[in-house]
Amino acid sequence: MADKLIIFDTTLRDGEQSPGASMTRDEKLRIARQLDRLKVDVIEAGFAASSNGDFEAVQAIARAVRDSTICSLSRANDRDISRAAEALKDASRARIHTFIATSALHMEKKLRMTPDEVFEQARLSVRFARNLVGDVEFSPEDGYRSDMDFLCRVIEAVIAEGATTINVPDTVGYAVPELYGNFIKTLRERIPNSDKAVWSVHCHNDLGMAVANSLAGVKIGGARQVECTINGLGERAGNCSLEEIVMAVKTRKDYFGLELGIDTRHILATSRMVSQTTGFVVQPNKAVVGANAFAHASGIHQDGVLKARDTYEIMRAEDVGWTANKIVLGKLSGRNAFKQRLQELGVAMDSEADINTAFARFKELADRKSEIFDEDILALVSDESITR
Ligand code: KIV
Ligand code: ZN
Repeated sequence: MADKLIIFDTTLRDGEQSPGASMTRDEKLRIARQLDRLKVDVIEAGFAASSNGDFEAVQAIARAVRDSTICSLSRANDRDISRAAEALKDASRARIHTFIATSALHMEKKLRMTPDEVFEQARLSVRFARNLVGDVEFSPEDGYRSDMDFLCRVIEAVIAEGATTINVPDTVGYAVPELYGNFIKTLRERIPNSDKAVWSVHCHNDLGMAVANSLAGVKIGGARQVECTINGLGERAGNCSLEEIVMAVKTRKDYFGLELGIDTRHILATSRMVSQTTGFVVQPNKAVVGANAFAHASGIHQDGVLKARDTYEIMRAEDVGWTANKIVLGKLSGRNAFKQRLQELGVAMDSEADINTAFARFKELADRKSEIFDEDILALVSDESITR
């Protein structure tokens, strides 16, 4: 049986850190229910210690959602961890995700701590969290820009304290796929107790490579959890997008060889819910969930998909929640697509000559109008000389 890839959704935590994407408790609860319907394995519901509002959101989600594991982020200190545990008290499956920065830059300039102090704080925090819940994730923030020897030391220690998932963030989206994949691989090879934890990737999209880096972390590095967000929402240029990573692993199962628990038919509805809630519009050419993701405008492509959809479609639109693919009629469309639309609209044309006349009119109109709607077609064939 193939390994399973755990999908950890952080739309409600890292996604919410996107400027302007803040959500109310009720909005988060609605999205969490939808993520549960989508069957994500882990929902990072928020950062319980960051505000009373977020505490309440994590608590409400922990009480309402029964299937997905509910997670709260916490800094590596006892107060944050206790607050996370309290918010998660009623969850059927609870995870505490604790983090501390490990790069020289962050330790010196941001935390103003020595590496030894960070090491000790990481170790003791994981120990503290493990006394409260059985499922503890540790992230060395800015992990990808951290010194390899130091990182190995910290990770080995937190696994020894009981961390069950080790997440290696590319916090600032600096990685490139091959290097990031090898970084995870080296960590796993060098840390003696590495097989005691699930390895996870968490990539930001500053250079547009979050999905590619995450896939390399899985394929080259052997990670078995991906942290991602709906529509790629997140700090700055965002996080790895859930819909893209899921459909890449599913569509290229021949290459990745991994199982997923996700019910992909709910992807589009989830994307729309997140977009409507946050006001972040999805670009039309966004993979999987953009309005044009399954739309065909050129005549050659339209003719191809009308004959066999896999000529220009590598996934089924229906598999991610669209009702069907979309043939967009415009100046690039061919006669075949036009004829098919006439049939769908119930327009009966007896002769090929009539179709040719209607098609010529359609082309004339399409030169003046960028998209031709069904009403336009009905209007241009309503002339007595064509329809009967
Ligand atoms: O990007 C990051 O480093 C994070 C951590 C808190 C996991 O979001
Ligand atoms: Zn992040």
